[in-house]
Amino acid sequence: MDIQSQLQSLEKQLADALQNIESLQDLDTQRVNFLGRKGHLAQIMSRLPELSPEERPLFGQAANAIKTSLTQMLDERKIFMENAKEASLLASFDPSIPGRAPWNGSLHPITKAMEEVCSVFQNMGYEIVVGPEVDTDFHCFEALNMPPEHPARDMQDTLYIQDKVVLRTHTSTMQIRTMLERKPPVAIIAPGKVYRRDSDVTHTPMFHQIEGLLVDKNVTMTDLRGTLTAFLRAVFGSNTKVRFRPSFFPFTEPSVEVDMSCTQCGGKGHHKDGSPCRICKTTGWLEILGSGMVDPAVFESVGYDPKEISGFAFGLGVERIAMLKYGINDLRMNFENDARYLAQFAGA
Ligand code: DAH
Repeated sequence: MDIQSQLQSLEKQLADALQNIESLQDLDTQRVNFLGRKGHLAQIMSRLPELSPEERPLFGQAANAIKTSLTQMLDERKIFMENAKEASLLASFDPSIPGRAPWNGSLHPITKAMEEVCSVFQNMGYEIVVGPEVDTDFHCFEALNMPPEHPARDMQDTLYIQDKVVLRTHTSTMQIRTMLERKPPVAIIAPGKVYRRDSDVTHTPMFHQIEGLLVDKNVTMTDLRGTLTAFLRAVFGSNTKVRFRPSFFPFTEPSVEVDMSCTQCGGKGHHKDGSPCRICKTTGWLEILGSGMVDPAVFESVGYDPKEISGFAFGLGVERIAMLKYGINDLRMNFENDARYLAQFAGA
């Protein structure tokens, strides 16, 4: 076949070849067959010396036109095939299937319990204050009526940073910090992390407390009882019974331990089927917080006059509140960051 007719037949040849292709890969093969370095067009061009010098420019033009046309055929086919692929994907897709809900974060149960306790006191007019977790011996012990060598210090296994600098063992530090900064009246609530040198099934070296302090003229034990009873009923329900037992804390005098009726058995000590309640060990009562009237020695250490004012303070463990409120039975769950555990509190 002469070179001219060979060139002219290329379009038809490609059209025929395109009839049989099934994939984008087949299409690529044909692009190489026709336009590649050793493809049909290149082979025809290699016969250029067969033509007379006068014929060559015209032939060159014709070859270029054919090349453009072949390229266009291949490109159009490619677009067509890509669209078809998309269309078939779309056809196998059911747009009426409901979407997957995005994964929502949730507050940690400890955070939730902390926020709830704080909001109850905020509604009573208390202000939230926060302070450092690394604090001085003075704020943590001495000003709270626990001088060096005082046996009451043994109640808290302290982590020392250096001499006279400690990881606070309780949020009671915030009583001192606040009173040093302000004049009475004071009504504050101080949530935060505290640290002690113990760790077992029921203790972690870091845990959370909330401290409360009310100082004013004529604050009495009656205010303490009314406030804490209202608080416990707000968090655990209006049927909650509350009792006050004499106790000892160096920074309060008198001191009380506050118990509430067991959340699990309703204060009966046993369940409906007669089985013993393990949460309250059949007593019907749960220890829930420590409290008392602020000791005059504490007022003196911050420059308040105990003859002018009086006050009450209390401290509670947030983990305990969260566990009772949400029915958590293993303290350690709170620190493992298992998303399956945490997600359960999304709506709680
Ligand atoms: N600070 C005490 C503790 O960590 C808790 C406490 C008890 C705080 C009685 C108080 C209080 O303010 O009056 O065990």
